[in-house]
Amino acid sequence: MSDKAILKIGDKEVELPIIRGTLGDPAIDITRLRDLTGHVAYDPSLANTAICKSAITFVDGERGILRYRGIPIDQFIEKPNFVEVAWLLIFGRLPTKEELSRFSAKLTENELLHEGLRLQYQHMPVDAPPMAILSAMLNNLACFHQQLLWVGDEESLEAAAARLISKVRTIAAFAYRRSQGLPFIYPDPHLRYCANFLHMMFSLPYKQYIVSPEVEDALNLLFILHADHEQNCSTMTVRTVGSARANLFASCAAGVCALWGPLHGGANVEVMDMLERIHAGGLTPEECIRMAKDKTNPFRLYGFGHRIYKNYDPRARILKDTCEKVFAQLKVQDPLLDIARKLEELALSDPYFIERRLYPNVDFYSGILLRAIGIPKNMFTVCFAIGRLPGWIAQWREQHEDPTSRIVRPRQVYIGPVEAKYVPMSERTAAT
Ligand code: CMC
Repeated sequence: MSDKAILKIGDKEVELPIIRGTLGDPAIDITRLRDLTGHVAYDPSLANTAICKSAITFVDGERGILRYRGIPIDQFIEKPNFVEVAWLLIFGRLPTKEELSRFSAKLTENELLHEGLRLQYQHMPVDAPPMAILSAMLNNLACFHQQLLWVGDEESLEAAAARLISKVRTIAAFAYRRSQGLPFIYPDPHLRYCANFLHMMFSLPYKQYIVSPEVEDALNLLFILHADHEQNCSTMTVRTVGSARANLFASCAAGVCALWGPLHGGANVEVMDMLERIHAGGLTPEECIRMAKDKTNPFRLYGFGHRIYKNYDPRARILKDTCEKVFAQLKVQDPLLDIARKLEELALSDPYFIERRLYPNVDFYSGILLRAIGIPKNMFTVCFAIGRLPGWIAQWREQHEDPTSRIVRPRQVYIGPVEAKYVPMSERTAAT
């Protein structure tokens, strides 16, 4: 196999090194492209560009494979423990019993919010979108933990990670309570990660919410499935902000903003809107597919398609199976699951979706599972963010520890006026 690529521009030929990871596509190293040729590379949505070397997550989109630190995603299905997976992603290997209990203890120590932060909820409109609150509050953590604005060693990284991963649940649950006009329920140090989140969401001052093991395991698994997904839009955002040496709180808050978009994590809300519309009789599954194929209609089949997966997203398969398992365990039914199955069947037998290799992605079934757990729709993307936080922290850390990492600063192909003249206000017309 050649270890270099030859690029010919006019009469000039330059050699560009090819670098190979342990798995995945080889990459043509163009770091010296401009120096050698005077040209820049054009790749607007970075679809062909590896922006870093990473040892965290591997995705093979052709074969539908996802691995965290080399471990296939289905190996986390049986005994889900989100905190263990968070540690694995951030610190690079599975924790020992002592390491896991030390980290869990740190999460417990950090589950409360500073009173100053808690009081800020009173100034948010009751109907404020929880994703806006989440991003604002994560950023605000920087005001209350200023000793962690600079994270230079493993100890301070663990301290910052524990604060973020623990407090994100409290921040999220308080956002929901505020939206419902309900009193805040403080975390219970005796509960595990997911049970504690559900307690803060649903307990009442006079009535403890009892979490069933099936529901706790389902939420644990859902968080694990969202924990990292290599260089997606929000992770790229975290890395971009972090590349300016911005602190971990600010970088993760920026990740939340990117995740909110309906083409990214916000797709789980769009999917639910679509299923509810079909259920209410406002649309049939067939019309939905027709609209998704119509290029004059901005509508998309949300929860379908992926930049990397050209096969069934393994997370979607696990979530679909988990929905069926949890519904059977809880002895509940949801007509939306049948509608989702019907939509999937129609799409997967339609030439438009077959030719473009569009399959269900992680967002197609996650909302149905969250709904079964009792999570309201406006908290779906928040749950995605809680799950994704360890991945963002791991990626931020990897970037900070990479001695070759530089500030992200792409080039552009300029297409504006070559040179224009400043026109004084008195001489200006709409055309100038
Ligand atoms: N419905 C209808 N057509 C689609 C869809 C869809 N969901 N997804 C892609 N296409 C079409 C697209 O219009 C294009 O058609 P053509 O070749 O005729 O121009 C073709 O398929 C290729 O798609 P693309 O838009 O080039 O793919 P992309 O890599 O730029 O976008 C995507 C990926 C996920 C944004 C897109 O598939 C999409 O909008 N899906 C719906 C939103 C969604 O479910 N997002 C969640 C993604 S997974 C979790 C996450 O990252 O948060």
